[in-house]
Amino acid sequence: MARVNLNTVTIEPPILNSSCLWASDIEQLHNLYNCPYTGAVTTRTATLHGFKENEIHAVVFTTDRLSTLNSYGYSPHPLLLYLEWVHELLTNPPPTAPSQKPFILSVTASKADDLAQMVQDIQSFRANLRDRPSTRDLANLVAIELNTSCPNIPSAPPPSYYLPALRPHLDVLAAAARADPSLTIGLKLPPYPDVTRIREVVDCLAEYTIDEPEGLRSPFAFLTCTNTLGGSVLFAGEIDLASAPPSSGADPSPTAFAVPTALGGIGGERLHALALGTVLGFTRALGAHSSPAVRAIKVIGVGGVKDRESADRMRAAGASAVACATGLGREGVKVFEKIMLGV
Ligand SMILES: Cc1cc2nc3c(=O)[nH]c(=O)nc-3n(C[C@H](O)[C@H](O)[C@H](O)COP(=O)(O)O)c2cc1C
Repeated sequence: MARVNLNTVTIEPPILNSSCLWASDIEQLHNLYNCPYTGAVTTRTATLHGFKENEIHAVVFTTDRLSTLNSYGYSPHPLLLYLEWVHELLTNPPPTAPSQKPFILSVTASKADDLAQMVQDIQSFRANLRDRPSTRDLANLVAIELNTSCPNIPSAPPPSYYLPALRPHLDVLAAAARADPSLTIGLKLPPYPDVTRIREVVDCLAEYTIDEPEGLRSPFAFLTCTNTLGGSVLFAGEIDLASAPPSSGADPSPTAFAVPTALGGIGGERLHALALGTVLGFTRALGAHSSPAVRAIKVIGVGGVKDRESADRMRAAGASAVACATGLGREGVKVFEKIMLGV
């Protein structure tokens, strides 16, 4: 499995970071871009104007450091800043960078109009890249991932758990894909413990199939499964205290909540089995669909990927590429070498 093609975007090797805290700023993106074991870089989820971050937003690691609980919302940096940084890395790649690799721009919006504005900004950016003299079309190094699954926004539960809330966003993305077949679009989905819900999501996506003279195609090239499992709790006695947020005090009781919001999203080892199940559920439901356009949708497997064995399990569950966040937070970009080479 040396590469995966997601519409016009190629990820080679098919290993990448998933959108997270450790892909927030230019320095982190630079390190991810420079790492020879990532085939693409995913940016932290951006909104149109930036997300207001404060002391209730935190991440902690479990005592074994293999799992995380986080209460973060989205990046404080707005989309336009990510576009500037991505422009810098694509047009002036660091001399040590192994090759130009694609960026997956993670975005979200509570209002469909804001999402439409963000898609328009990304399309202007891609048009600008396309106009540059280059041996390759730099516009095909930029994909969109709509984050539909952040569990930590009290006023906005993950829309992918409630399809009527998701559809206005899918309408925006499908319109953009109809207007520009070269635009690569994916969705970041939450964990689903129930295959019936998975089939409902797949059937919903199938409604957006585009019928063209060349054949049927889906606006959605990939699904990234999964985000963290929301509604989770860890106590201070279960975490690596070195990772505890300052607001938890110098010597918290073992039964104090580990993050200021008490509830957060769990990632890493404790998510792995459910993430594998969700990936398997989606690859089976996609593969069994009557439409070839739906069967062509690929899955990026995320959740407890930390080494070659866990990546092999994700692939055995049907993932075409694998990604991680907790492993990146724990080990830095070295984790990608472990995932690829097993060392
Ligand atoms: C601190 C932290 C921040 C995250 N922020 C985002 C985000 O901005 N957008 C997103 O789609 N997922 C976000 N995630 C979820 C990860 O991309 C990933 O889906 C999840 O953590 C499961 O992967 P893992 O087991 O490798 O951690 C975040 C995860 C962590 C731990």
